[in-house]
Amino acid sequence: MKTLNVDFSERSYPIYIGQGILDTPALYTPHIKGQQVLVVTNNTIAPLYLEKLTSALDGYSISISILADGEQHKKMATVELIFDQLLEERHNRTTTLIALGGGVIGDMTGFAAACYQRGVAFIQVPTTLLAQVDSSVGGKTGVNHPLGKNMIGAFHQPNAVIIDTDTLDTLPDKELSAGLAEVIKYGLIRDPGFFEWLEGNIERLLARDSEYLAEAVYRSCKNKAEVVEQDELESGVRATLNLGHTFGHAIEACQGYGNWLHGEAVSAGTMMAADLSRRMGWLSHGDVQRIKSLLAKCDLPTKPPSTMSPDDFMQKMILDKKVLDGKLRLVLLKSLGVACVRSGIDPVLLNETFSAFESR
Ligand code: NAD
Ligand code: GLY
Repeated sequence: MKTLNVDFSERSYPIYIGQGILDTPALYTPHIKGQQVLVVTNNTIAPLYLEKLTSALDGYSISISILADGEQHKKMATVELIFDQLLEERHNRTTTLIALGGGVIGDMTGFAAACYQRGVAFIQVPTTLLAQVDSSVGGKTGVNHPLGKNMIGAFHQPNAVIIDTDTLDTLPDKELSAGLAEVIKYGLIRDPGFFEWLEGNIERLLARDSEYLAEAVYRSCKNKAEVVEQDELESGVRATLNLGHTFGHAIEACQGYGNWLHGEAVSAGTMMAADLSRRMGWLSHGDVQRIKSLLAKCDLPTKPPSTMSPDDFMQKMILDKKVLDGKLRLVLLKSLGVACVRSGIDPVLLNETFSAFESR
């Protein structure tokens, strides 16, 4: 097992990464404050991993909340079910919530922990690749609103992140690929050596070689931890973690949430950001081809749906959380491994990017 530390002074926490660590009591007990624990999961993950996790919690008073599976349930009404249970079962301020699942469960459980009695402890036990490399680290929690994704939420850091990479064994291929889009992102925005390592080992990752998957998770978490430590509340460098996301969110919104997975939309969005970065004179044609080839090997889309017009993109992109004073801000690549955030992008270049993808 490997351990990373996310340094937030007195709110620092460990990320444990290893195979078969889900039922290791010693990883949980130092991070559980009182005697009460609420494990939050969903009806897909519970039959697979709930018993194994709870076997590590002997001696605690354990409650279980099994929510419906799916992004469409990531909403206030579902979080209220968690509050109902916490209150009905008289959980006090020293209770600890444990999120067992993907990003949807992690985001909602973290949000419930941020709000319940103005903030209680929580532990992330992520079971999708996306959650293991991204959403479980950094303290972004929240729910969707009918008018926008992730628009209601709070920053609330977990007390620990416990990543058992064996849980990836049961993950559907499509979900594994979606997670790889976020893994590739770290290489592109700040770790060129990791990008090259991914180019060399992508077949092993797709074949679910456990050693290589654990290494990819470790290097991704290390990158994420280094970024969020510098900029917890996203006033600067943390925005670079959103490479491809502004285009991607527009795709998700136009296609209807759940029809394109988040990672799939990020993949197509990353290609659009790469294309625009080439038009800015930063990436070469060869760089763009390398990105495309790696994403395509993961069976990820490298272009948006052909039905989306430049107007469709602009209408949705202007709703992005990075928009400041009505101005679009995009994450672009200065080179492979170096990202920047730019506003005031020449509309002619942006339109060229839209047209390039529209006509294919
Ligand atoms: P998800 O949570 O919906 O999980 C995907 C599917 O896989 C679900 O059906 C889930 O039940 C199933 N699943 C989970 N683990 C499994 C396993 N081990 N075996 C079999 N099936 C399993 O989706 P996700 O991709 O993990 O997360 C997406 C969510 O994360 C979005 O809501 C997104 O907004 C959020 N997110 C948050 C952050 C953040 O920083 N907080 C970052 C990125 C994404
Ligand atoms: N997933 C982007 C972030 O945590 O900031």
